[in-house]
Amino acid sequence: MSQGIQAITPVLLRGAKELREWVDNERILGHQIGFVPTMGALHAGHASLMQLAAQDVGRVVVSIFVNPTQFNNESDYSGYPLTPDADLELVEAAGGHAVFMPSVEEMYADDLTVKPVDMGALTRGWEAVDRPGHFDGVVAIVDLLFAAVRPDRAYFGEKDLQQLAVVRTMAAERHPEVEVVGCPLIRDVDGLALSSRNVRLTADTRRIALALPAALHRLKDLLARGLFPPDAVVMVREELMAVEGVELAYLDLVQRDTFASWMSGATGPYFAVLAATVGGVRLLDNLEVIS
Ligand code: PAJ
Repeated sequence: MSQGIQAITPVLLRGAKELREWVDNERILGHQIGFVPTMGALHAGHASLMQLAAQDVGRVVVSIFVNPTQFNNESDYSGYPLTPDADLELVEAAGGHAVFMPSVEEMYADDLTVKPVDMGALTRGWEAVDRPGHFDGVVAIVDLLFAAVRPDRAYFGEKDLQQLAVVRTMAAERHPEVEVVGCPLIRDVDGLALSSRNVRLTADTRRIALALPAALHRLKDLLARGLFPPDAVVMVREELMAVEGVELAYLDLVQRDTFASWMSGATGPYFAVLAATVGGVRLLDNLEVIS
């Protein structure tokens, strides 16, 4: 028999009470709990988090919940892809033990107002500029999910590097018992960062989108050749802005955990982070460029 991850049919849990009972029972049996929060439309990037969790802990809980409070655009929320059957199959294949799929009412009762979060530039810059209130919603739901699941470890992708930094900061304050684990960004074979939104790219816009990972690699090369980092960033930013079909939101060089700028002199690693709209689809990417 193979020694790999055993496929078992995951338990489907819809209520917080059911979830609590399941987790309590698994703990009594001596298992540690790993948690992978998602919004569904799962792909190999999500699966990688579940696989890492399954290697680390005895039981893996995956949540699938399209969180209304983190969308600042109604059509983005209502148009978010829903693929529940395929999602359950993917969780099973990736070694998840339980899937928590709550309703909006289960998570928020009837009040969708969330508290504003202020972590300085971390919640005001980059993603927050084009998506005001986004991190308020992310913090609200991750806080609620951590309280419901009470995991030992929670797994987040470096794909959403700013989200990971925000969640780490929130968890240190509100859930110090939860270890937040950052997991590597997974790319498609052509180099594009995997995202649930990639299905909205056409063959043509997808080709254009490859300029994003290419720019990150170019920046890494320029830095390896000894260019002064702020100059290299400006150069690559200008090159990317000149690519037809790419609307660049930002390209910056930031410290991984705090998003402090390179000029701050903080200890690395530093990542190049970018967001751009291609063919009407907003894409994120990043790459470690200074270790
Ligand atoms: P979602 O976009 O579904 O992503 C769930 C998790 O998968 C996040 O931690 C994200 O960083 C990770 N992920 C997505 N694409 C990835 C890739 N290509 N490589 C590695 N990891 C990847 O992020 C959210 O949902 C939500 O904001 C959530 C945290 C669930 C709160 O609602």
